[in-house]
Amino acid sequence: MNERIAQLRAFKSRSEPIAVLTAYDYSSARLLDEAGVDVLLVGDSLGMVVLGYPDTTLVTMDEMLHHTRAVARGAHDGGGKALVLVDLCFGSADTPAEAVRNATHLVQAGAHAVKLEGGASHVAQIEAIVAAGIPVMAHIGMQPQQVRIEGGYKIKGKTDEQAAALLEDAHAVEKAGAFGLLLELVVPAVAATITASVGIPTIGIGAGTDCDGQVLVLHDVIGLYPWFKPKFATQRADVAGEIQRAAREFIAVTKRTP
Ligand code: KIV
Repeated sequence: MNERIAQLRAFKSRSEPIAVLTAYDYSSARLLDEAGVDVLLVGDSLGMVVLGYPDTTLVTMDEMLHHTRAVARGAHDGGGKALVLVDLCFGSADTPAEAVRNATHLVQAGAHAVKLEGGASHVAQIEAIVAAGIPVMAHIGMQPQQVRIEGGYKIKGKTDEQAAALLEDAHAVEKAGAFGLLLELVVPAVAATITASVGIPTIGIGAGTDCDGQVLVLHDVIGLYPWFKPKFATQRADVAGEIQRAAREFIAVTKRTP
């Protein structure tokens, strides 16, 4: 087993929280690896915060590969301690064969593991990816790639039926061989129940504090995407403000205006 994945399991068994941030380029990956983040997620959220798409469904495999190569170089030069986890983007894993082909391309670009949106519905893809020797994390709860079908980003697990379906998804993906489980916008009590009932680490986003780890989009943490601020993400810096301050200072000096 990949030593970084073994470490995530060890973190769960000794109840040590796992810190995950997204990274999309060389410098952010290098800085985050040097800072000690456990997992660098090359999320397809890059489509929104880096490429300016309205949602993640427009992201292509070529774009994921391009950003994965940059992150892999940054993580390597940062010391290479973090696991580089990369999203299988919309339409890239509709069949087990496609999932294996695209997961293989991501590994060739520098991914240590891949992430796939879907639960029980994607067991065949998860089994095929694992059989190909590639570690895979499943992503359940709110699945951003379903936004066009769902008509928005909705909290999951509010009803008993939804909670039971999520628990079923969690057990199905664990049985299929997923090494971890991402829980997005899942009611905290349901996320806590899932976390206690699976052996694999759970990573939450907007899913309360009782998951085995937490993931956030880097831009939300450092204040680099001021046009949308999710309620669950604490902003810890104002990089957007600093960029504009420095740019205005440069403009003023260049134009010799007071
Ligand atoms: O694409 C992404 O960055 C993600 C996180 C929001 C969990 O999947």
